[in-house]
Amino acid sequence: MTSTAAREPATEIDRPGIAYLVAAANALVPADKGLLAIDESIPTCNKRFAALGIAETEDNRRSYRELIVTTPGLADSISGVILCDETIRENTSGGHAFATVLANRDIVPGIKVDRGTHPLAGHPGEKVTEGLDGLRERLVRYAESGARFAKWRAVFTIGPATPSRACIEANAHALARYAALCQETGLVPVVEPEVLMTGDHTAARCGEVTETVLREVFSQLHMNGVVVEAMLLKINMVLPGLDCPIQESVEDVAEATISCLRRTVPAATAGIVFLSGGQSGDLATARLDAINSAELPILPWPVGFSYGRAIQQPALSIWDGQDANAAAAQRALRQRAENNQDARRGKYTSSTVLTPT
Ligand code: 13P
Repeated sequence: MTSTAAREPATEIDRPGIAYLVAAANALVPADKGLLAIDESIPTCNKRFAALGIAETEDNRRSYRELIVTTPGLADSISGVILCDETIRENTSGGHAFATVLANRDIVPGIKVDRGTHPLAGHPGEKVTEGLDGLRERLVRYAESGARFAKWRAVFTIGPATPSRACIEANAHALARYAALCQETGLVPVVEPEVLMTGDHTAARCGEVTETVLREVFSQLHMNGVVVEAMLLKINMVLPGLDCPIQESVEDVAEATISCLRRTVPAATAGIVFLSGGQSGDLATARLDAINSAELPILPWPVGFSYGRAIQQPALSIWDGQDANAAAAQRALRQRAENNQDARRGKYTSSTVLTPT
């Protein structure tokens, strides 16, 4: 066998277009910025509105997202915004497409491309993410609409017998096929396997499950020829379940998360970004800060954020569906984004007492 025949496609970073994708992936995780996720599906966005008594209308969803993308100074702390299918098709009140408005503000537009989580047959309580059918064509259309990166989320629930091997393998395989299709199309894939916080499991169990999931995800990514230099991993921190009586300190969470990621994520991966997953905004930021201020070991990848609720929540409450509150909501959004920018630098100081959720 020649040495050429022995080469694995996944290690080739000289494929046509791949240098562009590597640069595009690096541009999403510059030194102290992060991603903002506003890609909640219509039902999820409506649920957040309903909790605050905001009318669940398309117009309100559009107005709220317009408020976010037009926040003055957002680009100082946010490198990219993840939109949902509804929003990327819409225009702001000024008649410009959301992706264009973002690009004009030096924020990279991204798009959530999965079609949600569905019950995994034969595995009660477990979910598989769907959306591979027709994905190649949809990715081309999203790229034409201005998207430069994409996101696909899989979820894993910790229980006495879950996640099962079937759930881990099915979701890892789908994530890898999605990521390969993104790179073929010229979009940077954000690969998001999320181990959920629901339950009374310990942080140690979350660490074991997250490690197992990541091993399978990177094995599938490799098998499917995904170039890790041209993708981001979006992942949960290693956290105790919401109902676990023992809630670790910020420093212990940081240490467990770093250990888990160092064991499983190739050093060549362009970057790691965290989801907030139901943590309070303050805790998500403080934990990110602790991860970035840990003195040793030096982390091989940029470690940032791709928060939804942990950045949006105060702004949504303040806005409350009223145009008159938009400017105050934008100030709150910018504040939360800048808090996380501080955390990327390891310089965040919480103004409140941190109580684990
Ligand atoms: P949260 O930060 O609210 O968990 O949302 C991030 C996200 O994009 C989940 O897919």
